[in-house]
Amino acid sequence: MTLILGIETSCDETAAAVVRDGRYMLSNVVASQIELHRRYGGVFPEMASRQHVLTILPVLQQALADAHVGWDDLDAVAVTRGPGLAGSLLVGVNVAKAVAWARNLPLLGVNHLEGHIYSNWVEAEGNRPEKTFPVLVLIVSGGHTELVLMTGHGRYQRLGGTIDDAAGEAFDKVARLLGLGYPGGPAIQNAAQSGDPEAFRFPRARTRQPYDFSFSGLKTAVLREVQRLEGEDPSIPRKLTPGRELPAQTVADLAASFQRALVEALVEKTLAAAQATAATEICVCGGVAANAALRQTLRQRAAMPVSIPPIYLCTDNAAMIAAAGHYRFLAGERASLDMDVIPNLPLV
Ligand code: KG4
Ligand code: ZN
Repeated sequence: MTLILGIETSCDETAAAVVRDGRYMLSNVVASQIELHRRYGGVFPEMASRQHVLTILPVLQQALADAHVGWDDLDAVAVTRGPGLAGSLLVGVNVAKAVAWARNLPLLGVNHLEGHIYSNWVEAEGNRPEKTFPVLVLIVSGGHTELVLMTGHGRYQRLGGTIDDAAGEAFDKVARLLGLGYPGGPAIQNAAQSGDPEAFRFPRARTRQPYDFSFSGLKTAVLREVQRLEGEDPSIPRKLTPGRELPAQTVADLAASFQRALVEALVEKTLAAAQATAATEICVCGGVAANAALRQTLRQRAAMPVSIPPIYLCTDNAAMIAAAGHYRFLAGERASLDMDVIPNLPLV
């Protein structure tokens, strides 16, 4: 039996979790900063790192208490070292180092994206069968959109990714221009519920590489439509011409049509890649994997098993970091106490 303490502070969630054998979640504590950043319409990096400093110790203690384990029961500490905000990552990494040093525990540096992938391994209880590789992974978060073929634990082949905005970023930007608030993903999903996804026909981008994505054209198309409906002249900078307020139904239709276009792009390319690579299973992860339309459309259209974590494991958490750390621990990896954060750490 292996018990790993996971720590995650790469963005705006302060999180700690204890995971047994890379799968069973004994605890999973997440202190969200969403309310703190809402008034800025996005994550304010300086405030995020300060808030991590205030919250990390109580979160750690809660994670141990919820798991009913003490420091001496742990086998290793796994922490996110990148990608993410430098100041935020530093808090988690330094706390993990302090724990590793004080308790003489092995330290593991985990890639945040690999963590998201391993959210598909985590379970509260039960005995989900072990996955058979290769597995096709779609990572869709606020900062990343990647299609990756996973050929074994810790072994990744990048098939493609976004050439401009990440899927979550597109949700956040379109939500802002529709006046729907932050974070954009859940806000668009809510508004879309009462909207007609066929009301507007937004473009599906073509990319040079078959498994790449592009969402900036879609975002611009929504902006142009909003400007047209508001009676604005698109050649005049938006700030200078306050448009008319759109009726709630129009906003709902725009949200639903945007969501439909984005989800279709994700689903079509994921299914094509899964087929071309003879993957045994599709795993989806990252904050946008919480999206109901994406979950439903992919499950409906895929002819193979689709694994999508429960919503609370799609957004940032530390259970996924502990799970990813477990397989690195088994592989004999150990980080030294001079490990640094890498804000733009790639997965492959
Ligand atoms: O993975 P995550 O928590 O943080 C990053 O590592 O980036 O992802 C956050 C992103 C945000 O852009 C947020 O708007 C999006 O995930 N998101 C959603 C939903 N819930 C969160 N996007 C679409 N639909 C949702 N229900
Ligand atoms: Zn994330």
